[in-house]
Amino acid sequence: MTRQDEKPFLYVVVCAAGIASGVGRLITAAQERAWEVGVIATPLAAGGFFDTEAVAARTGRPVRSAWRTPADPRPFPPPDAVAVAPATFNTVNKWAAGIADTLALGTLCEATGLDIPVAVLPCVADALAAHPAYQDSLDRLRGMGVRFGEPYNGEVRPDGSRPDFAWERVLDLLRPL
Ligand SMILES: Cc1cc2nc3c(=O)[nH]c(=O)nc-3n(C[C@H](O)[C@H](O)[C@H](O)COP(=O)(O)O)c2cc1C
Repeated sequence: MTRQDEKPFLYVVVCAAGIASGVGRLITAAQERAWEVGVIATPLAAGGFFDTEAVAARTGRPVRSAWRTPADPRPFPPPDAVAVAPATFNTVNKWAAGIADTLALGTLCEATGLDIPVAVLPCVADALAAHPAYQDSLDRLRGMGVRFGEPYNGEVRPDGSRPDFAWERVLDLLRPL
């Protein structure tokens, strides 16, 4: 629930895909749309896939990737929505299977029970996306009400460029249905 007189709080979950280095664009776009943002990264993503210091400076909050200890206060308010971008093959499959062995996965597994919008932009290579477990995971998560953007395989074009990763799309997907 949004706290009175405060902006709605968006959790941005970041996984260890190469495209994660551009997550600042999503944070800026979310803030322009009047979200307050807290970033939760998978441990691998937090370990070098994006500039965690720049993100902490932009959001005014530390990037979280580890569980707090019981004595620590909750560093983020409860979420009003969750955006997962980029989502990896690994995290999508573990989330669908109900595995909660990282803070990011625990947060995602819990989000369904909070009855808040959850939107995802996967970045998964075609070879991995062809694995039957991945299609089952997408079906299962969609059945739980999770909203997915268009597939993006992250592949580099012959000229060395990459197709645009539509970061803002995940915010569009969070809008009331
Ligand atoms: C440079 C680099 C780029 C990667 N990009 C992707 C990617 O785009 N999509 C993906 O699913 N995995 C990608 N991976 C593999 C994931 O990092 C790996 O599966 C990892 O276990 C994902 O962990 P996480 O889901 O906890 O973030 C990449 C790995 C490296 C080293």
